[in-house]
Amino acid sequence: MISYSKIGYIIFIATLLFIGKEDLSMAKAKEIQLPQPITKGIISLEEAIAKRRSQRSFSKKELTLYQISQLLWAAQGITERRGGHSLRNAPSAGALYPMEIYALTKDGVYHYLPERHALEVLSEGDLRGDLCNASLGQSSVSDAPLDIVICAVYDKVTFKYGERGKRYADIETGHIAQNIHLQAVALGLVSVPIGAFSDEEVKSILNLPADHVPLYIIPVGHSHP
Ligand SMILES: Cc1cc2nc3c(=O)[nH]c(=O)nc-3n(C[C@H](O)[C@H](O)[C@H](O)COP(=O)(O)O)c2cc1C
Repeated sequence: MISYSKIGYIIFIATLLFIGKEDLSMAKAKEIQLPQPITKGIISLEEAIAKRRSQRSFSKKELTLYQISQLLWAAQGITERRGGHSLRNAPSAGALYPMEIYALTKDGVYHYLPERHALEVLSEGDLRGDLCNASLGQSSVSDAPLDIVICAVYDKVTFKYGERGKRYADIETGHIAQNIHLQAVALGLVSVPIGAFSDEEVKSILNLPADHVPLYIIPVGHSHP
């Protein structure tokens, strides 16, 4: 006999999948509320670690809003609120959280807002080709339906730790990137970490504030069938 809690869980998952059918092209608002992330997947952490491989070519299939939501949550989602402080998915020196996450799709450029699990719409239009050019022409950047750009704001950590704070932010980028890669595997997707790009060109394409330093671009999408 199926219990009420199981029925509730099934309705919850079905709702997520339904919300996931929307995509960013439907969004005209300045802020897009992302669907609630789930914390139970269908493959084990060990399987995700074992399966992760950098993949540089992607099918044309778009990601759903649910998949984008889950990937951004894995990067910097809030997992606990403690005494007025929000703690995120990835560790951060002194819990200072000096990283900012941007997302590019065919529809525009977005800034992830961890506190509200929402996307701020920065611009409309497809800038993935420009980002590819800034990444020495690496086609994974223009082919992937989603590029996640991880930026450091060093001042947010050097004010406390001095020059060493830069090292802490750089290390934190690795934590965030690995969460994204493993979440991608868990969603049946593939990804690649891109470190080879012109910082100045990426800053200009995304119109980033002067104190933002892009450290990683992570294209994510579906593998070729
Ligand atoms: C810091 C860093 C920068 C990287 N930059 C690029 C890059 O610009 N382009 C690329 O295709 N792969 C890049 N990679 C991915 C590596 O080439 C890849 O991890 C390596 O070949 C091992 O393969 P695997 O990731 O499938 O285990 C980078 C990896 C790291 C850790």
